[in-house]
Amino acid sequence: MARTPYMAGNWKMHKTVSEARVLASELVSELSGASAKLMIAPPFTALSAVSQVVSDSPIRLGAQNMAPEESGAHTGEVSVAMLADVGVEVVILGHSERRHVYGETDELINRKVKLALAHEMEVILCVGETLEEREGDRAETVVQEQLAAGLDGVGEDQLSLVTIAYEPVWAIGTGRTATPEDADAIHQIIRNRFSTMYSAQAAENMVIQYGGSVKPNNIVGLMAKGNIDGALVGGASLKAETFVPIATYDRT
Ligand code: PGA
Repeated sequence: MARTPYMAGNWKMHKTVSEARVLASELVSELSGASAKLMIAPPFTALSAVSQVVSDSPIRLGAQNMAPEESGAHTGEVSVAMLADVGVEVVILGHSERRHVYGETDELINRKVKLALAHEMEVILCVGETLEEREGDRAETVVQEQLAAGLDGVGEDQLSLVTIAYEPVWAIGTGRTATPEDADAIHQIIRNRFSTMYSAQAAENMVIQYGGSVKPNNIVGLMAKGNIDGALVGGASLKAETFVPIATYDRT
């Protein structure tokens, strides 16, 4: 089965409500004919406004994080029900900035993953090694551990809601991309891991995005690799002129 390419934009802590509305409107008009699956993840404050802009378009609305609890006394957190309420269909979990800057552990990320899936919210689970781990020859081990821990307790029947994003930490926002060969090698390891954790079919079906300085000039080389099924894009997703060529790479 051919996997549908999946291009996602992670806007991080950028865009006011009015700026977000402008960018989302540009994307809606320029991406109406795109064949890839598309998602944009604005900051929480702009979700509601962007939801209205993308509602009748093929662009799915994503959130960048989510609370690990259903509701209650969790100051500063946003629940899965609140996200669903404003039209969010996808949540990015385990992003390296959450792991390394805000101290999210595999255990916490796993609780979020299970909670999102229980609410039939689609999940993009991010995994990836730091520079130190790569230089210590531990990239493969770290990625496999993050995968196993992040998906602990997740059943094969839930995997249709799961996408994996491989984002080597040293490539994020640095302009330093993994070579297509290096990325593909880790993607292959991730896919193999699905085979052992689940089944050959699950491995074959799993959509694995690459993330880390994806730009219009490197997307074609990355997507040429058999195990790279899409991209999670940060900096280049903040302007239509850079996100559109990535999202429509197959037509460039
Ligand atoms: P970048 O970010 O494209 O700016 O490197 C990617 C990400 O963090 O998802």
